[in-house]
Amino acid sequence: MYSQLRTALVCGLALCALSASPQGNGRRELVIIYTGDSGAEVESCGCNLLAYGGLARRATLVNVIRAAHPDAVFVDVGDFLSPNVGEQDRLKSEISAEAYGAFGYDAVNLGEDDFNFGLDFLKNLVEINDIPIISSNVVAEGKPFAPAFKVVDRAGVKVGVVGFLNAELVAGKDFRGVDVKPHKKNLKAATSELGRQADVVICLAHIGNVDKARAFAAKCPKEIDVVVAGHRGGQTPQAENVKGRWMVYTRSRNRHVGMLKLTLDEEFNVVAAENHVLPVTRETAKDEATQVLVEKYYAALRKVVDEKKLLKPPEDVPPGGFIYVGSSRCAECHAPQKKQWRGTTHAAAYASLEDAGRETDPECIGCHVTGYGFRGGFVAGQKPARLNVGCEECHGPGEGHAQSPAIKTPPINEKTCTRCHDAERSPSFDYAPYLEPVSH
Ligand code: HEC
Ligand code: HEC
Ligand code: HEC
Ligand code: HEC
Ligand SMILES: [Zn+2]
Repeated sequence: MYSQLRTALVCGLALCALSASPQGNGRRELVIIYTGDSGAEVESCGCNLLAYGGLARRATLVNVIRAAHPDAVFVDVGDFLSPNVGEQDRLKSEISAEAYGAFGYDAVNLGEDDFNFGLDFLKNLVEINDIPIISSNVVAEGKPFAPAFKVVDRAGVKVGVVGFLNAELVAGKDFRGVDVKPHKKNLKAATSELGRQADVVICLAHIGNVDKARAFAAKCPKEIDVVVAGHRGGQTPQAENVKGRWMVYTRSRNRHVGMLKLTLDEEFNVVAAENHVLPVTRETAKDEATQVLVEKYYAALRKVVDEKKLLKPPEDVPPGGFIYVGSSRCAECHAPQKKQWRGTTHAAAYASLEDAGRETDPECIGCHVTGYGFRGGFVAGQKPARLNVGCEECHGPGEGHAQSPAIKTPPINEKTCTRCHDAERSPSFDYAPYLEPVSH
């Protein structure tokens, strides 16, 4: 099955880099698969060709790389739980932790977001899912939260992995029993021990942005050979050599998998590093075992949405004061426009959610229906005229105008669209060409 998958992926994306490179002169290859800041993104929205991340697709990509490199070291830099703290984020965090336990990581470092739901929540998830956390400077209830480092043997190479969380990232936050020590001293102690135990030392640096990572790599303990850094996503298309030490930075939200190929000489010095950032795309198959977890999340979400009424009721007063009346009301006087609108994808925006099984997902509804959260607007299971991106999403809530056409509808401009067509959901948005198919 792997070989089939691999063929599909490798040929489809021309990722010849996945295969092992032949090595001579006592040299050998060490592959590091790295992720970070996945932010409990269970599945991306799929709103455009770039938004195809998610746990299940990412798992396939990792499996393919591991099939080609069974000795790869697999690490995460931290922030695997959600950056937000709502009910839905809690569910996502729980499923993300379950997936992280199942993925077979060698080491997972802690980020500040991993404490967003408190120490007990994290501790419990780590325990029940058996997540191999390492951290040299997070202290909880008076003792280290996790081992400072780990050494794994990969085809005769002893690979040490150490991690830390930059205390500056949690300054001023209430961390409920968690004490993040300034990392310098602890890291020095851990790496001097690792220097004795390991042939190659990798540091998982939850440090801040890419510049912070470079600054750290320039003056970190000498035993460290490779810095894998992360926090809020950034990118290093190539491995960067910072004062003789290699550095890469993770990308966010389960949309890419990093793969760093190191060449070691006979004394285990890293003599070359080649970085590959593999995108999770629409073509990437969903890993079946992980998809079971994803489905479990959706089932839990549907329950919570029902029980806790997570969909916003139509209670807010719309700007301008007039309420929504629905597209069929407009059609009473504007049949030709309605006919034209019917032929646009705006009139099928709700069906797109239904096709994806996400029509009750609070994170999706807002841009795929009419008047979500506002008086006269969308209510789940009711008012079909408020499904889809209806007339009033562009022309504004129409109660006033529909009663008395002398009351004009507000003018339309680019901002009317970019409320929904933002950089995340519609990266190819450009006003003039996008206006053409929607003009009546
Ligand atoms: C009772 C009939 C009627 C209804 C219902 C109605 N309109 Fe109109 N609409 C008109 C008339 C008449 C005009 C032309 C007004 C003018 O030229 O002064 C108009 C003009 C417009 C215009 C042109 C700009 C403007 O505001 O004059 C837009 C846009 C528009 N309507 C959108 C809508 C939308 C959206 C709805 C539903 C919320 C809607 N209409 C409901 C009768 C109606
Ligand atoms: C309430 C949110 C919302 C607003 C406002 C909105 N759109 Fe959209 N638009 C969508 C959604 C959602 C889709 C995708 C529908 C689908 O396929 O399910 C879409 C699709 C489109 C498409 C089709 C793209 C394609 O490749 O198929 C065009 C073109 C478009 N919108 C133009 C516009 C323009 C121009 C405006 C402003 C005048 C606008 N939209 C305002 C949400 C919105
Ligand atoms: C901020 C507004 C916004 C939110 C929130 C949003 N979407 Fe969309 N969605 C859009 C827009 C805009 C498009 C059209 C993009 C384009 O064609 O440029 C779109 C398109 C789509 C499409 C059609 C893609 C295609 O290939 O035709 C699907 C499916 C979709 N969204 C699913 C979702 C799901 C699932 C969620 C929740 C996780 C979601 N959307 C949340 C704005 C949004
Ligand atoms: C994606 C945004 C969008 C949606 C949805 C939309 N319109 Fe429009 N509509 C426009 C734009 C753009 C114009 C051009 C006028 C302007 O720039 O203000 C327009 C113009 C109009 C006009 C003025 C006459 C004309 O044809 O130019 C009417 C009437 C109208 N729309 C009715 C409707 C009705 C009824 C619906 C729902 C069935 C609807 N519109 C849905 C964007 C939209
Ligand atoms: Zn972080």
